[in-house]
Amino acid sequence: MNRRVRAASIHDVPEETGLELALEGKIVALFKVDDEFIAMDGICPHAGGPLGKGTVTNGIVTCPWHGWQFDLKTGQHCLTPQICQTRYEVEVDQEEIFVIFPGS
Ligand code: FES
Repeated sequence: MNRRVRAASIHDVPEETGLELALEGKIVALFKVDDEFIAMDGICPHAGGPLGKGTVTNGIVTCPWHGWQFDLKTGQHCLTPQICQTRYEVEVDQEEIFVIFPGS
């Protein structure tokens, strides 16, 4: 059964960076792109950098540690699309953002 977990208020998510959260035992990066909220695995697959603290430009997040870049709409690495961050479904209920974690 899926778990719906409150993540933040819509007012908490900056546009030029992300928001790093610990939810359900995972580090989740929450972003806002074109009025859409996006949640993805917040651990960079290169060396574990905090993607939620990366800079966001035109829907691309740049990892603050060594500069790997990911397309937030797909989760794919910009140069090597086979590297793909897990994205989570997001629901907005009034002004609250919820992340949906799939059940096992
Ligand atoms: S840890 Fe993210 S680019 Fe190295």
